[in-house]
Amino acid sequence: MKALLLAGGLGTRLRPLTENIPKPMAPIANRPWLEHLIIHLRDHGVNEFVIAAHHCSEVIRRYFGDGKSWNVNITYALEPFPLGTAGAIKNAERWLDERFLVFNADIVHLPQLIPLLDFHRQHGGIATIVLTEVDDPSSYGVVEQDDQGQILRFIEKPRREEAPSNRINAGMYILEPDVMRYIPAEQEVSIERETFPRLIEENTGVYGIVSSGYWRDMGTPARYRQVHWDALNREFPLPIKGREIQPGVFVGENVKISSGVLFVPPVLIGHNVKIGHQAVIGPYAVIGDDCQIGSRVHCAHTIVWDRSLIRDRSRLQNSIFGYRTVTPAGEVFEDSIINQFKEAVQA
Ligand code: GDD
Ligand code: MG
Repeated sequence: MKALLLAGGLGTRLRPLTENIPKPMAPIANRPWLEHLIIHLRDHGVNEFVIAAHHCSEVIRRYFGDGKSWNVNITYALEPFPLGTAGAIKNAERWLDERFLVFNADIVHLPQLIPLLDFHRQHGGIATIVLTEVDDPSSYGVVEQDDQGQILRFIEKPRREEAPSNRINAGMYILEPDVMRYIPAEQEVSIERETFPRLIEENTGVYGIVSSGYWRDMGTPARYRQVHWDALNREFPLPIKGREIQPGVFVGENVKISSGVLFVPPVLIGHNVKIGHQAVIGPYAVIGDDCQIGSRVHCAHTIVWDRSLIRDRSRLQNSIFGYRTVTPAGEVFEDSIINQFKEAVQA
């Protein structure tokens, strides 16, 4: 089975973290989200991936290459300019000659594929949109359905009072290659604003099915942190690397913990991390691989990406630190988002 991963957005609400990486490459529990997604889909029978990217696409290419290390095939459909969600699909047409899956790669959701594929087959439409239910649908694509699950209307980001339901586009589709006939080539096209409304109007059979299971848009710092806390609490059953050294404290390999360190669960520590004496880590702390945490550092409700150096006596609260952050000793960070590692990576 083939999957197209849409990874070309700018991730503006997560800036500055997304200044030099695409949002789907932001780590969740010390591993790029895109890697969690590819591994999950591989384990559910997807072996061919096309990654549609633009902004910092090189970061994705350098990380995954041709996918061999993950036992999958990955090709890249790079866009000369952002082609939009449908334009990106059209741009990958030559690889998508059979039924395929599409994912908004910035959505944290590890769906069970079999029931969704069964639903699609049984209904026989050109497209199945996977749905989820939210309290406020106004920042999503909202659908109105009939009793059979057929979608009668698809409205992208309606005003709250105009939303026909609280069922929204979860950012995953099962599509027949025939949809390509409805997408003009070499121009920017939105699947949400143009293609879905057109497919519905032309009565091609667009169906929607609600996927159960954990679903979050990780697009803002608050939501990005919450996904981590849900993973640590096991409300989101994400595979986590590490050994549980005390209840709720997961630690990678080759971690040096000095005397007097206090872990307040839940906590996740990556591989090759050094923690100085009398540091207090947690509750809710994720420390990436190859980090050094100085002595007497306090770190709570905070995510630190790989290879960072947090010097002695720093206080980190409710913050996110990008790759290779170095903090001065004794500094206090509250509600901060830091990205110091500005190596330019062009698309
Ligand atoms: N290759 C490529 N090219 N990918 C793109 C482009 C592009 O020009 N524009 C956006 N994408 C990718 C983004 O990286 C993201 O993975 C996905 O397409 C959706 O784009 P967003 O910009 O993140 O859209 P959104 O979050 O406002 O809304 C979308 O997601 C909601 C679910 O969170 C829509 O699909 C909504 O209908 C949906 O409810
Ligand atoms: Mg999005």
